[in-house]
Amino acid sequence: MSPRISEEKIEEIRKSVDIVDMISEYVQLKKQGRNFIGLCPFHGEKTPSFSVSPDKQLYHCFGCGAGGNVFSFLMELDGLSFIESVEKVAVRTNIELPDIGSSNEGTQRQDEDRKHWYKGHELAAKLFHHILSTTDEGREAREYLRKRGFTKEVIDQFQIGYAPNSWDFLTSFLEKRQLPMSEMAKCGLLAVREFDNKPFDRFRDRIMFPIWNKQGNIIAFGGRVLNEGNPKYLNSPESDVFNKSQTLYSFHIARPSMRKKNEAVLFEGYADVTSAWRAGIDNAVATLGTALTEGQGKMLRRNVDKVIICYDSDDAGQQAAYKNAQILEDLGLYVRVALLPDGNDPDDYIRDHGPERFVHNIIGQSLTFMGFKFRFYRRGKNLNDEGDRMEYIQQTLTEISKLQRAVERDHYLRQLADEFSLSLEALKQEQTQIFKARKKKENRHNNGTFESRPQVQKKLLSAHENAERILLAYMLQKRDIADQVQEKIGGTFNIDEHQAIAAHLYSFYAEGHEANSSLFIERLEDKRLKHLATELAMKTLNADMSEQELNDYITQIENYPKKQQIKQLKVEQKKAEELEQFQEAAMLAMEIMKIEQELKNSIRNNQ
Ligand code: UTP
Ligand code: MN
Repeated sequence: MSPRISEEKIEEIRKSVDIVDMISEYVQLKKQGRNFIGLCPFHGEKTPSFSVSPDKQLYHCFGCGAGGNVFSFLMELDGLSFIESVEKVAVRTNIELPDIGSSNEGTQRQDEDRKHWYKGHELAAKLFHHILSTTDEGREAREYLRKRGFTKEVIDQFQIGYAPNSWDFLTSFLEKRQLPMSEMAKCGLLAVREFDNKPFDRFRDRIMFPIWNKQGNIIAFGGRVLNEGNPKYLNSPESDVFNKSQTLYSFHIARPSMRKKNEAVLFEGYADVTSAWRAGIDNAVATLGTALTEGQGKMLRRNVDKVIICYDSDDAGQQAAYKNAQILEDLGLYVRVALLPDGNDPDDYIRDHGPERFVHNIIGQSLTFMGFKFRFYRRGKNLNDEGDRMEYIQQTLTEISKLQRAVERDHYLRQLADEFSLSLEALKQEQTQIFKARKKKENRHNNGTFESRPQVQKKLLSAHENAERILLAYMLQKRDIADQVQEKIGGTFNIDEHQAIAAHLYSFYAEGHEANSSLFIERLEDKRLKHLATELAMKTLNADMSEQELNDYITQIENYPKKQQIKQLKVEQKKAEELEQFQEAAMLAMEIMKIEQELKNSIRNNQ
């Protein structure tokens, strides 16, 4: 824990935010009883097992076991350090923090570097934006963008800029601002000459599109040549802060609107996103010239249920739309695909036909994924040709056979029958055959094993395990119960993790804390313990526990080792009898009786 932010300050920060609000930015939550539930952001699932308690200010997933307080959530989800997560909440709720660093020197160094990288990018973006917006040097770029339909609002909103045609313009600017040159090169903002390691401007004579991370820090640039040239877009190289496959262009700008609309629009290019924004489509994002990854799909899934894909009408664009739609659908998202007339990308279309038509005729007319597949398989085929036609029918039947609902299959089969004047019966038969053939093949591949899917499973707990969990749950919420348990059994819980939690809890109270499960959990360093303690702290308990109940649980816990001992002795007794070692067997029998008597007494004493 950092020695530099006081515990009180951290508590103040934690209390300044409602965990439900914070998590709602990443997960769609629905109220259910006292808690909120949603799809767990830490593992893929289609039925919600992720639960957030506003009373306890904790979250817990019954599927994968993840859990903790608001800081652990940010640490686990955004990969932040503890201090970063505290800072993030503080910024959000406007609490002043002293200028701190992390306690660990390595992390401190890293945080320091990171600050420089963000700072360098931020200064560069401001500089480029200024050059583009107001200076003589930026006039040509300004003209170019104006011709392409970029308005001042768009240029300001996306902080678009211009990097002049110079080898040392940005370099000397950053140097004057006393940013470490080696760091500026390391984060990709500057390039270095091979022969003497001198830094120079990577981006020259290019329109600059800043690229932000989820938190809204600029981490890279995409630089476009004016007019024609190669490469058309020069992107920053990947670095510790810039991972293309985990970044979506304009994500942090689009996030509030995505959440409100429960929908995102996915484009291929920067210019598509900015033009769409001008058309009022403010829930738009784009990949960065690479194929969509599952990680990017999950970023979307944490915010929306539905994604509309709108890609270039050319072959590459349509192939990519098909692939990405599949990725998103497999993640459980509802996907639609918007089609453009030949030869257009979204940006061209908006420029040629205007924003209203784009919104109504393109986005508004998007197809279901299945509808898109029908169109997709038609590409490059002449359906008057029998061979092409048969191939098309085969391909669409294969897709239909993947649909789970009979009404849906029926709908598309009828559509197909109508279009090609085929008998519905014959199509149904053919489709069933395709389905069976695939099942057979899958079974061969799976070798009879089924894919295990995460499911909420109520584990059957043994009595002592249950007793330990309930006691710990009470101990987390009530200091006096912890005191009583400590006096009676100390740390002798039967399950190692329970023992560890009890030990931590005793010392937590010994330090003078009152019951505070969130703070307690925050201080546990072992992730497994953190998750388990959260699960226990989330339990709904009766307001009070009677003396009798408490003693019953303690008896369960104390008796468990004795019961185990009896079991063990009985095995040995049986072995002795088999070996005809009767004296040995008799001694064992007596010992068993003695322990059984102890057990009885302990139960009687308790009544
Ligand atoms: P496109 O070639 O479709 O460009 O690349 P575009 O978005 O229509 O660009 P404009 O309208 O001519 O300005 C789509 C995306 O692929 C990436 C960029 O992210 C671009 O927006 N790309 C493309 C690169 O990273 N490098 C390239 O050389 C080309
Ligand atoms: Mn374009």
